[in-house]
Amino acid sequence: MSTTPKTKRPLRSQAWFGGDDKDAFIHRSWMKNQGHPNDAFDGRPVIGICNTWSELTPCNGHFRELAEHVKRGILEAGGFPVEFPAMSLGESNLRPTAMLFRNLASMDVEESIRANPIDGVVLLVGCDKTTPALLMGAASVDLPTIVLSGGPMLNGNYRGKPIGSGTDVWKFSEEVRAGTMTLHQFKEAESCMSRSTGHCMTMGTASTMAAMVESLGVTLPGNAAIPAVDARRKLQGQLTGRRIVDMVHEDLKLSKVLTREAFENAIMVNGAIGGSTNAVVHLIAIARRIGVDMSLADWDRLGRDIPCLLNLMPSGKYLMEDFYYAGGLPVIIKDLLGKLHSEALTVTGATMAVNVADAENFNTDVIHPLEAPFKEEGGIAVLRGNLSPRGAIIKPSAATPKLMQHRGKAVVFNNIEHYKARVDDPELDIDADSIMVLQNCGPKGYPGMAEVGNMGLPKKLLEKGVTDMVRISDARMSGTAYGTVVLHVAPEAAMGGPLALVRDGDMIELDVHGRRLHLDVSDEELERRRAEWKEPEQQMKGGYQSMYIKHVLQADEGVDLDFLVGCRGSAVPRESH
Ligand code: FES
Repeated sequence: MSTTPKTKRPLRSQAWFGGDDKDAFIHRSWMKNQGHPNDAFDGRPVIGICNTWSELTPCNGHFRELAEHVKRGILEAGGFPVEFPAMSLGESNLRPTAMLFRNLASMDVEESIRANPIDGVVLLVGCDKTTPALLMGAASVDLPTIVLSGGPMLNGNYRGKPIGSGTDVWKFSEEVRAGTMTLHQFKEAESCMSRSTGHCMTMGTASTMAAMVESLGVTLPGNAAIPAVDARRKLQGQLTGRRIVDMVHEDLKLSKVLTREAFENAIMVNGAIGGSTNAVVHLIAIARRIGVDMSLADWDRLGRDIPCLLNLMPSGKYLMEDFYYAGGLPVIIKDLLGKLHSEALTVTGATMAVNVADAENFNTDVIHPLEAPFKEEGGIAVLRGNLSPRGAIIKPSAATPKLMQHRGKAVVFNNIEHYKARVDDPELDIDADSIMVLQNCGPKGYPGMAEVGNMGLPKKLLEKGVTDMVRISDARMSGTAYGTVVLHVAPEAAMGGPLALVRDGDMIELDVHGRRLHLDVSDEELERRRAEWKEPEQQMKGGYQSMYIKHVLQADEGVDLDFLVGCRGSAVPRESH
């Protein structure tokens, strides 16, 4: 640690570590109990490494080692690395849903960054919610910030065939219910699916968000697809560590990168990768933290002309490892440059176009070229109508084409327990043309807007060979799931949205091309039902969850807490002693 500081202006950390008074003594002395020399406090950039490592977040279980590679890069570039933990959100374990805690983790991150002597931040992210949570928190502070994803797991492999995280769970589960897979085989598949460190290797929410941060320009190029266990992931960590030090010298703050153009680029890339529907709420929430006003209309407008180029599960057949070997996200970004804001600034200090100039496609069956796309319709479609006045979304690339224009009779489940109790009842009046409606699973209703929108189909229909039906809810869906699933209906049922008024037997019309979702019930009848509607009782009372329910915004506003929207900057006017 003997490199001479390069920055002339006083760094933020010097408000703690500079000077000769009692406060500076306190700040330095206690840090020195970790063995730091005097020159660690001489004005060099102090870089926080915000680590979401946890053994309960298996997707981020390798982050302690990854952080060491980041530190190596920071030290090489003359910075002072300080690693700190953030609340970790493991999608596979957290109940009632990890999404309930995304905003809580973002508060932890925001306050930890602002309150500490940090000049720049590296965000170590992986499992679904860790990426938006950390970026939301960092955006509300606006220091120089760079993101490093932990990388996907290696491809799953079951009995000689590739299997994908999540996607094949839904499939196997339906096969067990239909009687075509044994429980022994089901259990055997568990270890075959998750066979290395890393996050889900389908184009689920984790891979989508890794691609989103790369297309927002807040990672080094190539971040999204490098497998977690590949040595080049460690190298990416080291280079990320080097780069953040220079970003502090350049005062390259997050707000210079996270512009409206950057978000528009990310939306278009989401279309091209067949990305998760969860990206919609996450990107809106991040944008509103940094002061970019983004809406559902942006998603529909920008995604319309973007075909899906990437042949990855759940929309296609390959997995993230294949995507990396084919050239990774830079190939897609390069192909889309004519549509993107190619001059958008990134954390490299160069534009997006410069970053991807050398990208090459090594497998056009994995990454289809723009002139011969994998699927014509890649974006997220936003549906409006009397059933979703503030919008609902569907991912056309994961839907069954013939169901995208459909009229059917509603079969209504009042909540997730009602669904579970009723769906396999042989007496349930339902057929393949029915529309399954799930209520009270939105942000306030569940609470936390769980990933239950892709309801499994009734056993009796599965046994007849039915593989997809129209499903509508105010819930979300796992990014690894598929089907003709209408999600994020706003306003949600638990706050009296029209979804709460649907009854068994009502006719519903879905028209994805016309962007319409219509409940064929007269306004008078709906008014009568509205007068009878009673707010459902809260599942949990007190604590964080009651604050969440009181303040959470609807899906079209990103499901953030109302008082967290916006950037509050990095200034802390008062000392602690
Ligand atoms: Fe962590 Fe899928 S469970 S990314």
